[in-house]
Amino acid sequence: MKIKEQLNSLIADALNAINVTDSNIQVVEAGKPEFGDYQYNGAMGLAKILKKKPRDIAQDIVANIPNSDMIEKLEIAGPGFINITISSKWIAKRVDEIKDDDRLGIAKKSNPIKVVVDYSGPNMAKQMHVGHLRSTIIGDTLANLFTFLGDDVIRQNHIGDWGTQFGMLIAYLEELGKGSEGSLKDLEQFYKDAKKRFDEDEAFATKSREYVVKLQGGDIHCLELWENFIDKSLGHCEEVYSKLGVNLTRDDVKAESSYNDDLANIIKELEDKGLLQTSQGAKCVFLEDSPNPLIVQKSDGGYLYATTDLAAIKFRCQKLKAKRVSYVVDARQSEHFKQVFEVAKKADFAPEDTILEHISFGMMLDKSGKPFKTRDGGTVKLIDLLDEAVQRAKKSITRRDTFNENELEKVAEIVGIGAVKYSDLSINRESNYIFDWDKMLSLDGNTSLYQQYAYARIQSILRKSERVLGDIKIGDELERRLALKLLQLEDILITTAKDAKPHYIASYLYDLTTLFMKFYENNPILKDGIDEDIKKSRLALASVVANTIKLSLDIMGIAVLERL
Ligand code: ARG
Repeated sequence: MKIKEQLNSLIADALNAINVTDSNIQVVEAGKPEFGDYQYNGAMGLAKILKKKPRDIAQDIVANIPNSDMIEKLEIAGPGFINITISSKWIAKRVDEIKDDDRLGIAKKSNPIKVVVDYSGPNMAKQMHVGHLRSTIIGDTLANLFTFLGDDVIRQNHIGDWGTQFGMLIAYLEELGKGSEGSLKDLEQFYKDAKKRFDEDEAFATKSREYVVKLQGGDIHCLELWENFIDKSLGHCEEVYSKLGVNLTRDDVKAESSYNDDLANIIKELEDKGLLQTSQGAKCVFLEDSPNPLIVQKSDGGYLYATTDLAAIKFRCQKLKAKRVSYVVDARQSEHFKQVFEVAKKADFAPEDTILEHISFGMMLDKSGKPFKTRDGGTVKLIDLLDEAVQRAKKSITRRDTFNENELEKVAEIVGIGAVKYSDLSINRESNYIFDWDKMLSLDGNTSLYQQYAYARIQSILRKSERVLGDIKIGDELERRLALKLLQLEDILITTAKDAKPHYIASYLYDLTTLFMKFYENNPILKDGIDEDIKKSRLALASVVANTIKLSLDIMGIAVLERL
């Protein structure tokens, strides 16, 4: 239900009637229940333009809002706020309509666009570590959300598979000779060993450097070793994706190396468009508000991360025809993206109206506020972290006796992985994120477990009452607020997609579930002696709450449990 849009349009009609135009009509949710459900606060701004008292303007607007079965009451408060209360009958009817709908009444966009979401992007020369967790989780949620709302989403895993470090890895792989497959099982160890050889043995280091040149020159033997290495390395990433329940496959991989043949052309185009300058032998683009230029070719002829990103933008805009390209990458790269986007537009790699956005996020910190590390100061392997989440979740499940060993493992996976994802998604991505096991696996507060419990509890109520759902009848204020909340999901999802901020969904879910718990305490469903129609109405309401939790968690890539 696009409630805000409907209210905005009623306000627009009223303004029209009094010959006023406000190009940015924005009703907002009321801050307190006393102020109704929504507020329009535009009268204050119009007062200056119309040279009239805001209260008088508010009065004129209220008098001219067309009759609508949606509105129960309009009140003017304070200097000229218009408080809007939505009609209970209207709310009940709308909830009835979405009761059995898989999409909960949320339409697909009528004007879908192509969206590229660039996320995860691990570097193949390193084990996937916690640094990639946030990008992978946030990016996947956004891709799911855009898809749900109807856009045509293309996931792009821009893996780092090209560069000097690969010479070292190839040299080491070659040194180990045939049957080296085993050593790739533990990539972490493989990198460490290769690096050690590189640092200790000058001959090995020289060989590594030669391999880089050979590889980039297209030497068949080197390419073969490199491909084998990337293949294994990607296999490890896929293990992580699968444990995480993230929708990334090999088809989504568009590696840095795949742009290799375009790079010379990118430089030429920049040159032709007069954007290049040479500084200390390097080719650069100077930009007005950047202290440093964007370097696109080193003095030795080598290309850079930025050059590849320019080629990727060209590919995404011109070949894939993306109208929005969202880069889910940590905040330390913001200057890089700012410059790359600017150059891409200047060079016409991206049309002026295409949205290029850096969906930046903060660091992952431990409880004491330090960068997340293992006890001995090493980087935390993602696989280990996820396994620990499942182990910890297993311990936290209270009603263990209801599950056999197999089921318990499955439940622990859903709870543990859900907790890791939800705790990341529930905070504003721009902040640093404190990783705290106890908090994320807690039953209280804004956690996935809280949602999963609420969902399972509702399922249990529905099972006990054989799922007979009736028409919604709104009995009291709590029930009204709960039902209205259910109708607000579409507005929340639309704003979440616009701002690319998944924590809006989590906050919404937390409010919804908290409201439901209060409602359930006050309005029992299964107690004897309750009027049958009221019982069925409450069951229907509970069922829509459960469906809303499920759909929202599903967008976040988190599963629910029928029993917990
Ligand atoms: N591989 C990069 C890193 O680990 C992330 C890639 C992000 N995407 C991009 N198009 N630059 O920092």
